[in-house]
Amino acid sequence: MSDSSKGLRGIEAGSTAICTVGAEGNSLHYRGYSIEELAAQATFEEVAYLLLYGELPDSTQLKAYIERLQQLRGLPAALRTVLEKIPADTHPMDVLRTGCSMLGTLEPEEDFAQQDFVADRLLAAFPSMLAYWHRFVTSGQRIDVETDDESLAGHLLHTLTGARPGEDHRRCMDVSLILYAEHEFNASTFTCRVCAATLSDMYSCITGGIGTLRGPLHGGANEEAMALIERFDTAEQARTEVAAMLQRKEKIMGFGHAVYKVRDPRNAIIRGWSKQLSADADNAHLYAVSEAIENLMKEEKGLFANLDFYSASAYHFMGIPTALFTPLFVCSRVTGWAAHIKEQRGDNKLIRPGAAYTGPDHRPYVPINNR
Ligand code: COA
Repeated sequence: MSDSSKGLRGIEAGSTAICTVGAEGNSLHYRGYSIEELAAQATFEEVAYLLLYGELPDSTQLKAYIERLQQLRGLPAALRTVLEKIPADTHPMDVLRTGCSMLGTLEPEEDFAQQDFVADRLLAAFPSMLAYWHRFVTSGQRIDVETDDESLAGHLLHTLTGARPGEDHRRCMDVSLILYAEHEFNASTFTCRVCAATLSDMYSCITGGIGTLRGPLHGGANEEAMALIERFDTAEQARTEVAAMLQRKEKIMGFGHAVYKVRDPRNAIIRGWSKQLSADADNAHLYAVSEAIENLMKEEKGLFANLDFYSASAYHFMGIPTALFTPLFVCSRVTGWAAHIKEQRGDNKLIRPGAAYTGPDHRPYVPINNR
């Protein structure tokens, strides 16, 4: 295997009609619609419908879909009990991984004809699981997760914080969910497809996706980016210390991308939101710190910020604890994962690549007493 194809870089490992990063790898379209237009004009519910059902909904379909998701927000008592038993110092990604798996025991997918129900159920229930556990372990409250918030973004912020969000925070979350929803054959989606290709159930596929997204080279980068920017009080300090990190050949989380080589088209959108929210935030300097790091990375390494970098400050300005950043990614990406699972099932072939063997040639077995 050549070094250039390590990590399957540049190899088409299947086909998809859901999303493309373009031939040049510098744009993003969901089923033909550009991320810029979707982020500016669509709601997350429209995008979820588009990804899962193939077309944008008309107004009747959208209204029905919003109501359907609202009705699916509740958590069974057995799942609430399990969530309450998860230790307070657990990473919330492990909470969602466990919650997904547990829901799969209570409402199993017994037939692929149920796949749309399971996808919508998980989309509606992940915010509830996250908020129920978070509020229980931080304040001992057993919250009602069946709110009347129309949007998933509003529901998420409302249940996580206990207060209905202002419109700028709600819409920023909505846009963030749109940006995180889908990204072709990324590591977690590929995990879901590998699992789906064995004809396993949707809960197993998505549990695997959550485990894959958790790592700092993938979804976990937004938490690492936050840990970095929080260390600095000024833009100057950030420049000096990040330059020193680069000298030490340290990786700066939230920069670079396995597919994009020139820019991440989602960055400009979330950066704009971060800047807008910083105007009313207590620690607005984190935006200036982020900009300083972005400029330095461009000058020193020719590297651009990916979606995770400014998502960190945008989420922080909304008052979201850092450990919840990657779980929010799950609440969105479940749409892309489920769309890919459905697509894989629609034209399935077991995914089983070959391996370039690097071990010893044949050698005779040596009985234990002769070793
Ligand atoms: N900080 C510093 N250097 C970086 C870097 C970063 N974030 N990302 C890449 N580089 C450098 C590497 O050190 C390497 O340099 P070298 O050739 O001198 O060794 C070169 O750029 C290529 O990096 P590599 O990790 O091999 O590229 P990749 O295509 O496999 O990696 C990522 C893609 C995303 C894994 C990588 O950019 C990364 O680890 N980024 C940080 C994590 C992150 O933000 N993940 C979220 C992605 S949306």
